[in-house]
Amino acid sequence: MISRRSFLATTAAATTAIAGHPLFSVAHADDGFLEITAGPTSKKLYHEDAKASDLWLYNGNTPGPEIRVTVGERVKVRLTNNLEEPTSIHWHGIRIANAMDGVSGLTQEPVQPGETFEYDFVVPDAGTYWYHAHNKSWNQVARGLYGPLIVDEATPAFDPEHDLTLVIDDWRLQKDGSLDVASLGHLMDWSHGGRFGNYLTVNGKSRPNFELKEGQAYRLRLINAANARIFSIAPESFGALVLAYDGQPLPTPEKPAYSPLLLSPAQRMDLLVTPERDFAFEELSGDTPYPFAFFKVQGRQDTKKAFLPLVPNPIPEPDLTNARTYTIDMTGGAMGRMVETVYNGKVLTGEDFPRTGQLWAFNGVANLAEDPFFKIKRGESVILEVLNDTSFPHAMHVHGHHFRVIEREGATIDDGRPWRDTFAIGPSQSVRIAFVADNPGKWLFHCHMLEHAAAGMNTWFEVV
Ligand code: C2O
Ligand code: CU
Repeated sequence: MISRRSFLATTAAATTAIAGHPLFSVAHADDGFLEITAGPTSKKLYHEDAKASDLWLYNGNTPGPEIRVTVGERVKVRLTNNLEEPTSIHWHGIRIANAMDGVSGLTQEPVQPGETFEYDFVVPDAGTYWYHAHNKSWNQVARGLYGPLIVDEATPAFDPEHDLTLVIDDWRLQKDGSLDVASLGHLMDWSHGGRFGNYLTVNGKSRPNFELKEGQAYRLRLINAANARIFSIAPESFGALVLAYDGQPLPTPEKPAYSPLLLSPAQRMDLLVTPERDFAFEELSGDTPYPFAFFKVQGRQDTKKAFLPLVPNPIPEPDLTNARTYTIDMTGGAMGRMVETVYNGKVLTGEDFPRTGQLWAFNGVANLAEDPFFKIKRGESVILEVLNDTSFPHAMHVHGHHFRVIEREGATIDDGRPWRDTFAIGPSQSVRIAFVADNPGKWLFHCHMLEHAAAGMNTWFEVV
């Protein structure tokens, strides 16, 4: 029924029009907590005649419910675990209190099946964020445990009708149209580019149509929830400007600096689109462009709805002259150079690699070591120098902080050095990022290609 390339082939475009927020309602308990349950759900991802998939979802929906709050507000979520394995929720991109960061085994004990955990935190920054499982993420996120977290400006910059969230994922389906669960954890994916899907969805639907009004300004919030796929898109082809990366606004809306623009796993991009005619988002990384979301543009309205400029969030500027520099050499993977690698205090040899699934390393250490990669005093500036000594691109994420990419390949970046929480690094590239370590606690630094993280590309630092 579907082939490896079928997401490039086609299914009839889904015809549901989506206007305004693709919201599912979340029940608020009397104590003000949003109830979010992670559990198994059987759902047809592919068309009606296909076999249903065994998904793991939040509140039975893909994506999970859009959590929408105003900057400075408290978010209170009660997670109930109805899965057969432990889980936790990470609030990706939120400069959060460490105990609420949701990293199983580092910032909290994983929530056991049948148990609950209460998350309660303040959102310091407006923008586009998301939440996802952070225990065996390669498994749990691939099965659907993620959702959007949108933080509105004190006065929302766009009204709901002109503000759309697009959560993009690629699923790996079998020939019968159901999620390929058996291939989860394949070492072939772990040692190469990660798990790629063959079926693209936006807000859980294949090739949805959105209806827009001609000449009106829209904010499109893209969230890449895929395990490993880097989306290549060309928003300039329909005149879009970039409003924000990873939740943080650019000083002014800008023409994309490159074409195509890359949206790596976990990254977000807010676009400003004022459509004059129909357009589509196309994934450009394959042999032929694959349109995955369609925008039908209808009748002009007389009055153009105004929107407010986005104001910068209060992220402290790193002090580059007094910063401490730490270097990470990334090694391993297929066609890569494997240096002597230590895992759980033991040097890995031969059979240990497939047996432990540890195939990548940072500075010769696979996965979390007992001691932090570095420990730093609160308020100090950090420069992380990352060398990708592998044959694959990676999407590197810092927890609890946003950073500026200050250098690529030894060349200073002069595109305004946007704030990010996840940066892409190409094979053999070097990148330097800088941030103020102003958030006390234990924070992960890992590849967001979730198979790579599980297979060794995972470390942590401590701010004291
Ligand atoms: Cu979105 Cu540690 O990840
Ligand atoms: Cu990676």
